[in-house]
Amino acid sequence: MVGPDPGLTAIVLGSAAGGGVPQWNCRCRVCVLARAGDPRVPPRNQVSIAISGDGKTWLLIGASPDLRQQILTTPALAPREGLRHSPISGVVLINADVDGIAGLLAIRESQPFRLFAPAPIQQVLKANPMFDVLDPNLVERVTLAPSQRIDCGHGLSLCLLPMPGKIPLYLEDRAAVQPEPGPTYAALVEAGGRRALIAPACANITDQVLAHMRQSDVVFFDGTLFTDDEMIRAGVGRKTGRRMGHVSMSGPDGSLARLADLSIRRIFVHINNTNPVLIEGSDERCQVEAAGFEVAFDGMEVRL
Ligand code: MLT
Ligand code: MN
Ligand code: ZN
Repeated sequence: MVGPDPGLTAIVLGSAAGGGVPQWNCRCRVCVLARAGDPRVPPRNQVSIAISGDGKTWLLIGASPDLRQQILTTPALAPREGLRHSPISGVVLINADVDGIAGLLAIRESQPFRLFAPAPIQQVLKANPMFDVLDPNLVERVTLAPSQRIDCGHGLSLCLLPMPGKIPLYLEDRAAVQPEPGPTYAALVEAGGRRALIAPACANITDQVLAHMRQSDVVFFDGTLFTDDEMIRAGVGRKTGRRMGHVSMSGPDGSLARLADLSIRRIFVHINNTNPVLIEGSDERCQVEAAGFEVAFDGMEVRL
């Protein structure tokens, strides 16, 4: 890339919530259409976003279980020099859910990179010896305090902002009726004076959350469900979005209403396969687009 101020580039490697689209065992309306190859419902991998400040070196936000495939289908992430190389210089973990960390196991082949995460997520990795497969001599674990800004090199800086959220599913008491608050963060990345906020999980759009968005040029926001009881009504689950730690798009406290007045780009990611916005031309998709929001797709590139 040329010029002194190349700005910030984001590539959406995966735009879906846990399970992806279609989900391997699901026959909900969206999954059936996606599996049948309906052009209105392109398949989607589980969420992960690559960010660059120079167009050459990339920071991954979230380590999706689909990471290997995502890297293979993204030319910018291919090795470029020597026998072993990766343009990925760092991986940022913003929650400890399986769909946010399992991808680390897909990039364990003796490649140096920096692993940025807040203390509670570093603790989850430390408590699970399987992650020791990432050689500590090659993969430096960098613990970030909330709101601490760190220079990641290559023109990028990073800061982790706590978000309303819950503990990972596998640490939950399965009988719990209320979600237990737990470590969930948004990543605020900056390059060339441009800022992107990546917040694939948010349980509640507080004034503080809105303030973070107002400091950004674009937000990649939690698009898990359109309606809070969508999974129950689709017959595929017993939990509301609220119980899962995800605010829905619709409703008075939903993202469409709460983010309506923001003048930044608003792009939905972490979209669950029951969400009807995944069907191009659906009423819900039209509603979202008419309100000025975008529905991310795999391979989407955003330049700021
Ligand atoms: C979520 O987004 O609610 C979690 O990823 C669910 C899960 O861990 O499967
Ligand atoms: Mn998830
Ligand atoms: Zn489904």
